[in-house]
Amino acid sequence: MTLSADSFVPRHVAVIMDGNGRWAEQRGLSRTAGHKKGAEALKKLLPYMRDKGVSYVTLYAFSTENWKRPPEEVRTLMDLFRSYLDGDITELKKQGVRVSFIGQRDRFPADLAAKMTTLENETKNLSGFHVVLALSYGGRDDLVQAVRRLAARVLGGEINIDDLDTAAIAGALSTAGIPDPDLIIRTSGEQRISNFLLWESAYSEYYFPKVFWPDFTPAEFDKALAEYALRHRRYGGL
Ligand code: FPP
Repeated sequence: MTLSADSFVPRHVAVIMDGNGRWAEQRGLSRTAGHKKGAEALKKLLPYMRDKGVSYVTLYAFSTENWKRPPEEVRTLMDLFRSYLDGDITELKKQGVRVSFIGQRDRFPADLAAKMTTLENETKNLSGFHVVLALSYGGRDDLVQAVRRLAARVLGGEINIDDLDTAAIAGALSTAGIPDPDLIIRTSGEQRISNFLLWESAYSEYYFPKVFWPDFTPAEFDKALAEYALRHRRYGGL
């Protein structure tokens, strides 16, 4: 039997969208312009990923550490998220896409946090393609929250210490119910996990294209898929 590359499409792709700032700086543009271009790249890529057969996409759009950026840049990113949630994401919703959010929602302006919750509720019964936006997300913080939740259940007598196993921890994380990522892509040439999906990435494959995020086109995603397919042919014992 011949297996096409499509047989090896990752079910869950997680992306660290890195390099918007450098993309802009190389062109003498503002970092804001880089983030806008990054949002455009994302808009083109999501439908392409879905058409390729990917079921889950998690996007690292803002980390717990990104709050330390200059206020002007944080404001720009908030405005970008807001317009994304109002426009492009609503468009995805019409196409039957489920959208959810992981991260510290309470740190966002109230209107943005409310939009996130509404969108989650409105799309929770949609299936086929699930987009998870990691906003003010940090893998360590998510583990801390999970430990607190589990400790409260132990103290409340709901569960015993012996019930604390890998399934219990996975079930207490914000990613509960979402399969672990098969492929993690970080653009811009940096080769770090930067506090993204620390628990969930235990068996993920990594791909580090040199291009900055605004240049991560569908053709670049095809290269990632081709690389992923080769790795699985080697390690899958075919
Ligand atoms: C990393 O590039 C990118 C970010 C911190 C923001 C990611 C946001 C987007 C791609 C905007 C679109 C997303 C949504 C959900 C609308 P960087 O600024 O760290 O780049 P640098 O390392 O070159 O400075």
